Amino acid sequence: MTKAALSVGYSNFEKAINRICYYCILDYFITSGLAIQAKTEYSEIELRSTLKIQGKFNKFLSYMLFQLSLAGFIKYKDSKIIFLESVDGARSISDRIMYLTEEFPEYKEICNLFQHCITHYPQALSGRIPAISVLYPSGNIRFLEPAIEVMEGISNFGWHEIYLKKTLSKISKKRKISVIEVGGGIGRLTWHIVQNLNSENICYYFTDISRFFLAKAIETANKKNIKFMEFIQFDISKEPPLILKDTRHDFVLALNVIHATPSLIDTINNLKSLLVSGGSLLIIEYMPVPLWKNMIWGLAEGWWYFNDGIRELTPLIDKEKWEAILFQCGFKKVRFFPKQTEFLGEIPCIGIIATL
Ligand SMILES: C[S@@+](CC[C@H](N)C(=O)[O-])C[C@H]1O[C@@H](n2cnc3c(N)ncnc32)[C@H](O)[C@@H]1O
Repeated sequence: MTKAALSVGYSNFEKAINRICYYCILDYFITSGLAIQAKTEYSEIELRSTLKIQGKFNKFLSYMLFQLSLAGFIKYKDSKIIFLESVDGARSISDRIMYLTEEFPEYKEICNLFQHCITHYPQALSGRIPAISVLYPSGNIRFLEPAIEVMEGISNFGWHEIYLKKTLSKISKKRKISVIEVGGGIGRLTWHIVQNLNSENICYYFTDISRFFLAKAIETANKKNIKFMEFIQFDISKEPPLILKDTRHDFVLALNVIHATPSLIDTINNLKSLLVSGGSLLIIEYMPVPLWKNMIWGLAEGWWYFNDGIRELTPLIDKEKWEAILFQCGFKKVRFFPKQTEFLGEIPCIGIIATL
């Protein structure tokens, strides 16, 4: 299905799936042992204790409660949360998702992933199973792939990928460059980019916090017979390892990862310390996403790590905040790319070039 075709009807889909989210949250509460009748009152601490929610998901719970309050299912009074009449009469979640899938078959893959995630909340948020194993049940991306493809169809992610590929390829034809990719993960961007680079002129450091992704990337590079790549473990929320700091680099490339750290400013300063004067930090991040997407990615490691006062409810920020933070961190020039997008997408990404 083409992007434009997928995009048609998305806003109705978003309204419908967001509506179901409220019932999913209530269902999660009930399944986890919470008695919910109209006018029952709990403090957030009592809720956490009944749900046996792990500390790292406290922000997720606060986010869910905030959404319920916006939709009129609960209200806050003093330090209590009061469930309202409207909580009664919920139809079963599986029926709701089945009707949603029937109404919006083009988003079937998203509905499947959504249902899979929300039905695992009781085990995953209490730590009985690792939350990340819900998203990666077989330890790889295969399970997520069909839904990610549909999600990318309603985003402008592909435009950013093409822009970066062309830009880096052009530069590597003219001069030697050193590139560090951080949070490379499954290499969604990596393998598109490296295949277009001039191997004579490039040193490409693939990094990630996870040894698992490094091992996978090494395997892929060997298969592709790529010789100009190095693979280094690097947690971007910490000071970079000496092996990266020893030389300065022309580009640091961060796709969909900076948001997953506690402090945007600390992380950006860590990345900035790796750049030559005139070097650029290339960032691709999603703009703040709708409720249903938070309900899926809320299970991802790092989604709720934010603790910097810049983010309040969810980890993603808008263009204006990125610009302000990057200037605050000492970048001289901040540009957004690509300048003209034929297709902005229903769930837009932003591409940022911040130059020292
Ligand atoms: C959402 S995935 C994005 C992966 C890849 N860039 C992409 O878009 O397909 C986030 C990646 O960042 C890594 N990551 C998470 N926190 C990190 C951190 N503090 N430092 C470095 N990598 C991190 C994860 O292991 C994962 O591979």
